[in-house]
Amino acid sequence: MEIRAVESSYRRWAPVYDRTFGAITRRGREEAVRRINALPLGEGGVTRVLEVGVGTGLALPLYAAHVRVTGLDASPDMLARARKAAEGLETVEDLRLADARAMDLPDASFDAVAAMHVLSVVPEPRRVMAEIARVLRPGGRAVTVTHFAREGGALGLAERVLAPFADRLGWHSDFDRSEVVSDPRLSPGEERRLPPFGIMTLLVLHRA
Ligand SMILES: C[S@@+](CC[C@H](N)C(=O)[O-])C[C@H]1O[C@@H](n2cnc3c(N)ncnc32)[C@H](O)[C@@H]1O
Repeated sequence: MEIRAVESSYRRWAPVYDRTFGAITRRGREEAVRRINALPLGEGGVTRVLEVGVGTGLALPLYAAHVRVTGLDASPDMLARARKAAEGLETVEDLRLADARAMDLPDASFDAVAAMHVLSVVPEPRRVMAEIARVLRPGGRAVTVTHFAREGGALGLAERVLAPFADRLGWHSDFDRSEVVSDPRLSPGEERRLPPFGIMTLLVLHRA
C-alpha cells in the first residue's frame, strides 16, 4: 500500500474508526500500554514513548502519569481526532503528521515505542522497523500488536482472498511476522495471541 492509499483509506476510516475497528482492537492497546507503563523509569524519572501510527488517539488516555508520549501518524484525518483525544492529557507532549518510514527524531531518544495495529498497514514495514530500532535507546522496548497471516484453515484462506484489496481495506490481511522481526537490533521477547479469537498478536522486541 502506498502512502497516498493510506491517507485516502484512513480519510474514510476516521469518522467511524473508534466505533468499528477501534472497538474490536481495544484489548491490544490495553495490553501494550500496560507493558509500557510497567517499564522501569527512564532518565529524569519519566518514560519517553513514541507511538507510531497513533491513529485517533484511542491509546492516549491509557498511559500512566510518568509517561511522556510523542505520537505520529501519516493521516491528517486520524491525527485531527488524536489531537482532540489528547486535550487535557499532560502525558501527551507532541502529536505530529509524519511518515514512520523516515522520522525526524533523534537516534536513541525513546525508552519505548508502541506500534499497535499499524505494521500491517504501513508501506515498507522493514523500513519502519529500522526507524523504530534507530530511535529506541539501547535496552529500550518496542511493543507491537499486529495481525499475522495464518498458514492454513478458513481464516488463512480469507486472508489470501482479501489480500488484493489492501488499499481499500487499509491493511494487509496476509502480513508476515518476518517483517516485524526484520531488524537485527531488535530481538523478540514476549509473544502472545490476544482475544478476541487470537486475531492480533502482541510481540515485544528488545533493543540491543
Ligand atoms: C489501524 S490504524 C491504528 C491506529 C492506532 N494505533 C490504534 O491502535 O487504534 C493504522 C494507522 O497507521 C497510520 N499509518 C499508516 N502508514 C503510516 C506511516 N507510514 N506513517 C505513519 N502512520 C501511518 C494510519 O494513518 C492509521 O492511522
